[in-house]
This record gives sequence, C-alpha cells and structure tokens, in this order.
Amino acid sequence: MKTRITELFGIQHPIIQGGMHYVGFAELAAAVSNAGGLGLITALTQRNPEALANEIRRCRAMTDKPFGVNLTFLPTVSSPDYPGYIRAIIDGGVKAVETAGNNPQKWMPMLHEAGIKVIHKCTSVRHALKAEAIGCDAVSVDGFECGGHPGEDDVPNFILLPRAAEELRIPFVASGGMADGRSLVAALALGADGMNMGTRFIATQEAPVHARVKEAIVAASELDTRLVMRGLRNTERVLHNAATDRLLEKERTLGSALKFDDIIEEVAGVYPRIMQQGDMDAGVWSCGMVAGLIHDVPSVKELIDRIMAQAHDIIAKRLSGMLQA
Ligand SMILES: Cc1cc2nc3c(=O)[nH]c(=O)nc-3n(C[C@H](O)[C@H](O)[C@H](O)COP(=O)(O)O)c2cc1C
Repeated sequence: MKTRITELFGIQHPIIQGGMHYVGFAELAAAVSNAGGLGLITALTQRNPEALANEIRRCRAMTDKPFGVNLTFLPTVSSPDYPGYIRAIIDGGVKAVETAGNNPQKWMPMLHEAGIKVIHKCTSVRHALKAEAIGCDAVSVDGFECGGHPGEDDVPNFILLPRAAEELRIPFVASGGMADGRSLVAALALGADGMNMGTRFIATQEAPVHARVKEAIVAASELDTRLVMRGLRNTERVLHNAATDRLLEKERTLGSALKFDDIIEEVAGVYPRIMQQGDMDAGVWSCGMVAGLIHDVPSVKELIDRIMAQAHDIIAKRLSGMLQA
C-alpha cells in the first residue's frame, strides 16, 4: 500500500508502532520495521543518552529497515538530557523521530538539519495545526480512546480524524483504538494516511514485556480502562487494577486538593515492576480501550500481514462489491 506516510518514512505498510515506556526496546522496534512498518525505540526508557545510543546500535543489528525513536517531552521541572538524547539519535543515523508531550519547536532545526523526519503526536486539531506551523513533517492524531495521555478535550477519533483532515495539509496517522485491517481502512476513509498502534503491539510475541502483561491485555474488555489524574490535567488512560482503584479513591477523597505527591506510589517508577517483573498491581499503566479488540498474541509479522490482508479484502471485496450492486 502506498500513502504519504509510506513515502515519507520509506516503509512498506502505513503502520507505526508508537513510543511506549518500558515496551519500546530494540526488539519490538526491529520486529515492526522488519515486518514493513515503522518501529520506534522509546528514548526516555533508556536511562541516559549513552544507553540510547547503544539501543539504537542493537536495533540496527536486528534490522536493515528504517526505524525511529520516540522522544517524549515531559511537563516536569527537572528535564531529562534532551540535547544528549537528540545527539544520540543524530549520531546513530536515525531518520525518523516521533515527538510527544510538549511542543518540539526548540529542537526542530537540529532534527531537520540532520535529515530527520519528525512526526508529532497530539490529541487535538489545534495542536496538530501548531505542529504543522512549526515545520513537523507529519502528525499522529491520538483520539480519546488511546492508551496513555489522551489530553483533556475528550474527542474520539470518529470526530477528531475527519476534523484533522479538514484542517491539515501535512499527512497524519490515526492513533488510539487501532487494532486490525478494519481500523486501517476506517482511518484511511476518515482522511488519515496510516495508523499508529500502541496497546495492540504490546500483545505480540516480540514485545519484550512479561507474559502477564500480554495476558492482561487479552483478558481485558473495552470496559476495563480508567482515566486517572484528570484533576491534575495530566489525564492518563490505564488498565483497571488494584492500583487504579487506590488512586481513584485518593482522587475522590482529596478532590481539588490532590497533588502529584499524593499519588506518587501509584505512578512513579512503576513501569519496570509491571513490564519486566509482571507485578500487575504495582501501579497504574497505560492501556487503550482497544484491549477489547485484542484476543491473541501473534508475532509482529503475523499481525501486520493479517492487518494488510484484511484491509485489502475490505477495500477490494467488501467495499467495492457494494458499489457494484
Ligand atoms: C504502555 C504504554 C506506554 C506508553 N508510553 C508512551 C510514551 O512513553 N511516550 C509516548 O509518546 N506515548 C506513549 N504511549 C502512547 C502510545 O505511543 C500510543 O500513542 C497509544 O498507545 C495509542 O493508543 P492505543 O493504545 O489505543 O493504540 C504509551 C502507550 C502505552 C499503552
């Protein structure tokens, strides 16, 4: 399939694996790229720029296809060594970066001078337009359904994607709730040039996370996510578990007096315990409503081949068949 996204990133299929904390290691990124999509290493999971440089080298040893790096700009006061991470990306010869969180404007000249294509992930049309205005090459439009941080506007993809298509000139991918060939065709119909998946890629053979994480996603239905940290304007969609209940109880009890320090036990440093040790109630962890559409743990190649075959069938048989009636 050829779209503006496959052309931009030099990939075979218009499918991107979104950055994921403690999931986006070289193994997953390489598997996605080898299967014809765009795999992404998650920079901030690496404790420093040297570790990221090493992860990029590991990924390159596993694939000769294009892959990228996710760089999440956190709203924290003490900022990670972003110049160092960007240097590691440039020196590592990576040509695609997914930025997320705060506005990446400051870093755009450095990235573009190195020939890097930038896709910024955002949750509203106004942020997407801002990304276009500062020179991003593409955007990833993350609807209310998504795992992780859906923003504060609560607009689902059936509205958000066509609204993005009405306003944007640069290509965009649909993100949030994407699972299969139906999602891809729907995303294309709504004006996107491809799709980005997070949660779906965790439940794959190659995702380097504990088996209990994959089992939890397969077991979950579309009703099993919760929104936390709304009061802090840092909303996150997470899987319902004991830690989610504890956190929501604190939110109810403390109301507008809630501070980040009150929930530190549920949110800070919990990812290694969940993703690597399989301690499923250690804290809250991002998961999309799309868990309701995930019923198996295929290899990444099986998943991507299946998505493309299903998309082809829907377009060439089901939809075109309707026109012939
Ligand atoms: C476990 C997990 C961790 C994530 N970590 C990050 C992250 O560090 N940076 C980021 O930009 N997005 C992160 N995301 C968001 C994904 O990149 C993607 O936008 C989102 O999962 C899309 O929604 P979906 O899960 O419905 O596919 C994370 C998502 C999940 C499920």
